[in-house]
Amino acid sequence: MFSFKPIRTPQTQEIMKSHETQEDPLQQESRHLHQILISKIFKSHKFFQNLVLCSFLIGFGFGLGFILNFHIRKVSFSPQLFRLSSLASSSSLSPPLQPPPTQPEKCVFRNETVTTDVNDEGQKSHSLMEPQNVMHNMTEEELLSRASMNQEKPLKTTKKVAFMFLTRGKLPLAKLWERFFQGHQDLFSIYIHASDPLYVDDDIPQTSPFYRRRIPSKGVEWGMVSMVEAERRLLANALLNAENHRFVLLSESDIPLFNFSTIYSYLINSQHSHVDIYDIPGPAGRGRYNRRMSPVISRRNWRKGSQWFEIDREVALAVVSDTTYFPLFQKHCRFCYADEHYLPTFVHVMFPEKNANRSLTWTDWSRRGPHPKKYTRRLVTAQFFRNLRNRKEGCVYNGEKINKCYLFARKFDDSSLDRLIHFAHL
Ligand SMILES: *[C@@H]1O[C@H](CO)[C@@H](O)[C@H](O)[C@H]1NC(C)=O
Ligand SMILES: *[C@@H]1O[C@H](CO)[C@@H](O)[C@H](O)[C@H]1NC(C)=O
Ligand SMILES: *[C@@H]1O[C@H](CO)[C@@H](O)[C@H](O)[C@H]1NC(C)=O
Ligand SMILES: *[C@@H]1O[C@H](CO)[C@@H](O)[C@H](O)[C@H]1NC(C)=O
Repeated sequence: MFSFKPIRTPQTQEIMKSHETQEDPLQQESRHLHQILISKIFKSHKFFQNLVLCSFLIGFGFGLGFILNFHIRKVSFSPQLFRLSSLASSSSLSPPLQPPPTQPEKCVFRNETVTTDVNDEGQKSHSLMEPQNVMHNMTEEELLSRASMNQEKPLKTTKKVAFMFLTRGKLPLAKLWERFFQGHQDLFSIYIHASDPLYVDDDIPQTSPFYRRRIPSKGVEWGMVSMVEAERRLLANALLNAENHRFVLLSESDIPLFNFSTIYSYLINSQHSHVDIYDIPGPAGRGRYNRRMSPVISRRNWRKGSQWFEIDREVALAVVSDTTYFPLFQKHCRFCYADEHYLPTFVHVMFPEKNANRSLTWTDWSRRGPHPKKYTRRLVTAQFFRNLRNRKEGCVYNGEKINKCYLFARKFDDSSLDRLIHFAHL
């Protein structure tokens, strides 16, 4: 459900990766033009004439909006309709998990005590204790506003990496990850967003790092804005802990390519965030831009990229606090694969200099078509690991060219678990 992406091959990625310079001034310019236009209208001798015309247009717009809104609602209530109209192959779509998003926003899952690090005042004193349970009863609004209010500098004493798993249910490769995390308890936190409402984590052994790490979760549908909402939910929960410095998004079919110490130091010492960004013409790129997002988001600022990101605390904070760009995606990019566009566009506009412009998660797009290649047991070999760990083409890390370009890889079949454990040497 999370993994299949339309029309994307490494070839197009490489060719089209844009090296444009930043375009921030453009946005300011359009805002400026907007203001000039408004002042002109008011100064004009034809002010009253315009007023009459405007009122007419507004009235017309209202009527049209009402009709459209009604129509769109009808469409969105029926997942079948979306399925038929989308280019996606139906096999890759998740079943509709939850009722439509018109219900009151609530995250209440269980009545349990709020974790210690939610407490703003007591945060520093509790800081060395990773809360045992990340379930809480905050509403979505409370959660996001708490997370974005948590502006204090990240704690310098303990620097943790937040591993955020966006899954349907249980992690099929948990055994591999448990090996990976073993012995590093003070250096990471785990957050799981499991969209399957039937998922329970009570049967996970208490010794597992995945024990009770599920955050209040909601349904997620492939290609829909609900995917980005889930990502923001994960970020908000992870931000509540001031020890978290870096934030990685992972799927249930991801594996780590190196041992914990290597990945940890790569992330903690990086001067950049890792968000895949490119600009491609055509229906799978710029074609998904919706003109109604203008002038806040222009077509020239529209970007695409893999959803699997790694960002630092500053960017994470900006994402959960974003009340400018994200509402436009919720409104105008509901079916436009928002997960491939929201963060690339946001980071391109807000933090162009902070981004390494590449993803740390390796995906095999060599097989043409909408789905990346899935790795089964047979394909997992020692040579395979060597190739992923040491990239001939190289990449830039803190200004230097290196061969360690990917820290994670996807997507791996459940059947490959024993061979992954054998060859990964974690
Ligand atoms: C919620 O938890 C509190 C304290 O644990 C308890 O007193 C209360 O009865 C619980 N409420 C419900 C509805 O279960
Ligand atoms: C959350 O639960 C705590 C106790 O478990 C309770 O004091 C608080 O009122 C609850 N908050 C909401 C929003 O339900
Ligand atoms: C992790 O991997 C690196 C490089 O492969 C190695 O030098 C280091 O000893 C390993 N660390 C542990 C704790 O195994
Ligand atoms: C990433 O691209 C932006 C332009 O979009 C550029 O300013 C920045 O320097 C690039 N980052 C790196 C690490 O090259």
